[in-house]
Amino acid sequence: MGANGNFEKYKSDGSLPGKALEWFDQRFPLTAMWRAHLSEYYAPKNFNFWYVFGVLAIVVLAIQIFTGIFLVMFYKPDASLNANGIPVAFASVEYIMRDVNWGWLIRYMHSTGASAFFIVVYLHMFRGMLYGSYRKPRELIWVFGTLIFLVLMGEAFMGYLLPWGQMSFWGAQVIVNLFSAIPLIGEPLSLWIRGDFVIGDATLNRFFSFHVIAIPLALLGLVVAHILALHEVGSNNPDGIEIKKHLDARGMPLDGVAFHPYYTVKDLVGVVVFMIVFAAIIFFAPEGGGYFLEYNNFFPADPLKTPLHIAPVWYFTPSYSILRSVTENYLWVLQLGVAGLWVWALRRASDIGKVLVSIVAIAIIVGMFAIEAKFWGVVAMGASVMIIGFLPWLDRSPVKSIRYRGPIYKSFLAAFVVSFLILGYLGTQPPAPVRQLISQICTIIYFSFFLMMPWYSKIDKCQPEPDRVNYK
Ligand code: HEM
Repeated sequence: MGANGNFEKYKSDGSLPGKALEWFDQRFPLTAMWRAHLSEYYAPKNFNFWYVFGVLAIVVLAIQIFTGIFLVMFYKPDASLNANGIPVAFASVEYIMRDVNWGWLIRYMHSTGASAFFIVVYLHMFRGMLYGSYRKPRELIWVFGTLIFLVLMGEAFMGYLLPWGQMSFWGAQVIVNLFSAIPLIGEPLSLWIRGDFVIGDATLNRFFSFHVIAIPLALLGLVVAHILALHEVGSNNPDGIEIKKHLDARGMPLDGVAFHPYYTVKDLVGVVVFMIVFAAIIFFAPEGGGYFLEYNNFFPADPLKTPLHIAPVWYFTPSYSILRSVTENYLWVLQLGVAGLWVWALRRASDIGKVLVSIVAIAIIVGMFAIEAKFWGVVAMGASVMIIGFLPWLDRSPVKSIRYRGPIYKSFLAAFVVSFLILGYLGTQPPAPVRQLISQICTIIYFSFFLMMPWYSKIDKCQPEPDRVNYK
C-alpha cells in the first residue's frame, strides 16, 4: 500500500492482507476514505506552524477522552460526607491521586489537558483571524468552530464542579446564579439548572452526566462536521488565496501537496514538540502556578465558607471580565454605542431592514433602563463569544490574509489581542475601581474589533494578493 494510495496493486498481489483489504473494501469505503481524506486530499504547500493547532486540538481531545474514561472508573459524583466528614466526590479524587496506580498521572493529564485544550484552541482561532480562514467558502467551518468553542466552555465548566472543591462549588454558585438575572424566568431557570436551591448533590450528578456523556458526544459530532466541511472546500493558507484556481493535468492543485505523507510527517513534529511541553508541565508544574489547578480547590466544598476571592479558571477570565465590566454607569456607554450602530445601520439598510434594526435598537436601549446591569453583563458575556461566529459576514476586506491587509486592520487586530489578554488578566484579580475602568475600556475595544469591522475592513489600504502561493 503506497503512500499515494496505490491500493489496487496491493489488493491484486494475492497476499493475505491484500485479500483482507479487498474483502473490507467491498463492504466499507476504507480505501476510498483514505484517499479522499489523506493520500489524495491536497493541502496548500505553504502551511506554516500556525497550521499545526488543528491537529493538536484533535490530540488533546483524544487525551481528554482517554484519561476521562479511566477517571470515571474511580471517581464518585456524590456530595454526601464520608465517615471522615469529607465529601465523597472530593475524597474520590484524592483517592485517585494517592492510591490508584498511576492515578496522579491520569488526573494531571486530564486537568492540564483542559488548559492545554484552550491554549491550542485559542491559537487555532487566532490563526483563522490572521489568514481570514473564516471567509467564503469556509464560513461553515468557522460556524462549527464557534459552536465547538461554546460547547467546550460548557464541558470545562461542568467538569470543574466534579472535584467538589471550594472553587468548584463557589464558581458554579456564581455562574448559575447569573441566570437568575434574566427577567421573569431567571429564578426558576437557575433553580431548574441546579435541581436545588443551592449547588448540591443533584447539581453534581447532572453536571457529571453532561460532562461525561452529553457534551463529549456533541463535541465529537461537531468536530467531525468541522473537518468534513473543511475537506469539502479545502484548506486556506497563509497567503489567503485559493489553490484550486490553478490545477495540473490530473486536476490536482499546482500549489498543493498530498496531506499524506507530507503533512502527516510535518504534523508529527508538532505533536512531538507539544507532547514534550505537555509532559514537562505535568511532571514539573501540574498546577500551572495556580492557574491550571487553583489553590482554593484543594479544600473540600463548604457551603458555609465563602472564599475571599472567587475567580474562574484562566480560560474563562476574558469573558468573566466582560461580565464584571457592565455596571449601572457603564450602561450609558453601551446605550451610546447601540445608538451609534443604529444610526450607522439606518444609513445602509433596506426599508424593511431599517424597521427591524430600529425595533432591536429601541428594545435594547429601553431594556437597559428597565433591567439591572447584571443582566446586561450576562448578555455582554454571551455576546462576546457568539459574535465570533459572525466574523465571516462582518469582514468586507478584498483580501483574506494579514500579509496583504492594510495598517487599519492590523492595528485593530493588535488592539483586540492586547485587550483580550488584559481582560484575561483582570478576570483573575479581585475587583478594584481602576481595574474596573481598564476592563470597561478593553470591553469597548473587544467589541469594536467586531462591530466596526464592516467599516474599517472596507476602507483599509490592502496590497494586491499574489496569484500563486509564495514562501516569503
Ligand atoms: C475541538 C476543537 C477543534 C478541533 C479538533 C479542530 C480541528 C481542526 C483541524 C484538524 C483543522 C485542519 C488543520 C488546520 O487548519 O489547523 C481545522 C481547521 C480549521 N478550524 Fe478547527 N478545530 C477545532 C476548533 C475550532 C474553533 C473553535 C474554530 C473557530 C471558531 C475553528 C476554526 C477552523 C478554521 C477556520 C479552519 C480552517 C483553517 C484554514 O483552512 O486556514 N476550529 N480545525
